[in-house]
Formats: sequence, C-alpha cells, structure tokens
Amino acid sequence: MSEITRVLKTFIGYLKRPDLYPELGRKIIKNTVNRGNAFKGKEKTNSWAAEKSVSQKEAVSKLFGLDMEAFRIEYQDILTNSAQKETECPVKMGGPGALELIYYACEFTNAKHVVETGVAYGWSSLASLLSLTKREGTLYSSDMPYLAQDGDQYVGYVVPEKLKKNWKLFRFADKESLPKIFAENSVFDVLHYDSDKSYNGRMWAYGELYQHVRKGGVFISDDIGDNSAYQDFCEKNNIETTVVEYEGKYIGVFIK
Ligand SMILES: C[S@@+](CC[C@H](N)C(=O)[O-])C[C@H]1O[C@@H](n2cnc3c(N)ncnc32)[C@H](O)[C@@H]1O
Repeated sequence: MSEITRVLKTFIGYLKRPDLYPELGRKIIKNTVNRGNAFKGKEKTNSWAAEKSVSQKEAVSKLFGLDMEAFRIEYQDILTNSAQKETECPVKMGGPGALELIYYACEFTNAKHVVETGVAYGWSSLASLLSLTKREGTLYSSDMPYLAQDGDQYVGYVVPEKLKKNWKLFRFADKESLPKIFAENSVFDVLHYDSDKSYNGRMWAYGELYQHVRKGGVFISDDIGDNSAYQDFCEKNNIETTVVEYEGKYIGVFIK
C-alpha cells in the first residue's frame, strides 16, 4: 500500500467512525504543528535506559521473586495456536512483547483488575488473561484499530475464545476509552501501556493511569526509548523504575 493510499484509507476510516472524530483532530495536530513530539528527549532516555537495563528474567525475579521459565512450558499449546493465528491474519500488526513480564506482574499482584492500552493482535491481552482467568478477574483494554487496513475485526485476533469472557475491549482512542474504563472500574492491580507513543500522549495517559493503579500494583510501559516521557514522568514523581531490555527496545516497570 502506498503512503498516499494509506493516509487516504485512514482518513476514510475515521470519517466512518464519528466516535473517533476527537482523535482525528488530535492526529492532525500531532502530524503537523507537533511533529517533533514523537522523539522529544529520545537520546537522553536511551543512554539512561541502556545504563539501567536488565533482562526480562532478572526483572521478573528481582521485582516479583518469581522464575519466569514455567510460562512457556505451561502455555506452550496456547502460544503455538496463537502464533499460528497471527500468521493467518490478513492484517499485519506488531508481534508479541515481553509476555512473561505482564503475566508474572498479574501473578505477583493476584490481579483481579488489569487495564491495558494498545491491543493489536492481543498478545499482551493474552498474557494478562491467562493469569486473570484463574481468579475470574477482568482485563479492560483500550484500542483504536488500524483504520487503514480495516483492522477493527482483527483486534485481539490471537486471544482464544474461551478467554474472552474475562475481557472488556473499548474500541476508542485512549482519551475516550480511559474515562469509560475508569467509570466501570476505578482501581487496578496492573497497568500495561502500549498505545499512543507520542511524548504528550504518554504524559497525559501515564498521569491518568498512575492514579488508578493501587499501592503495590504494577505499572508497565512498552517502548520507553521512543522519547523521554517515561523517564521524565518517573523523575517528576520520584519513582524508582526498573528498565527491561527486550529485543532491542526498552520497557519500564515499577511497583507502586
Ligand atoms: C504496539 S500495538 C499494541 C500491541 C499489543 N499490546 C500486543 O502486545 O500485541 C499498539 C496499538 O495501539 C493502538 N493505538 C495507537 N494509538 C492509540 C490511541 N491514541 N488510543 C488507543 N489505541 C491506540 C494501535 O492501533 C495499535 O493497535
């Protein structure tokens, strides 16, 4: 798909969804007057993260006192089926992240309520749901689908049907989804952030989400090396964070 076709398809996708008009306005501003926002402070944060980073295994052990090896063995069949579904999916989205970190954050907190932003195929959703279903807990997810690719129907494609009864998916931009999610449930055991990667988008969402994570809950943010929003947020709030290096990217995680 050429860039022009993609932009046009995205625009038409937005026009068909009046509930996404506020996000369309924000996107136009983000891609015109606010262009530098995506990478603001990137260099500073990458050297900070490189110095601090540990492996996912170390982080799971240090923060949660758990060994992450059991996850891949216990859920081997489900993970293989989900990987197969991903290859069959006609729409291409991002692949799995650090699933063990999310799963063991839920185990550590005995999670009953988890909130996440950014679903795509649903790998992170799968990791939370595998733990949450043991306690009949609920995952609240916010995702604004890939409009250019008619992606709506494929959001959460790798999540097995039997796990979906514990899942509430809000198909709006975070600015609209999060208030709706907080109106249904106000306190969460675990947060996973993986949606709007701009500096301002993160700063807004981190501030909102942080207030709704309980003391002793786990806050996780993906791709924190894109810009310095996560580092700045932690410094501003005196948060001592762990940084995980995973497949060339950085993930931030701390216990509140
Ligand atoms: C990296 S993917 C999420 C991957 C997912 N966490 C996983 O592990 O499979 C990012 C997702 O966030 C969505 N997204 C981007 N900006 C958003 C926003 N402002 N509000 C809600 N969702 C957004 C994208 O459409 C995409 O589906």
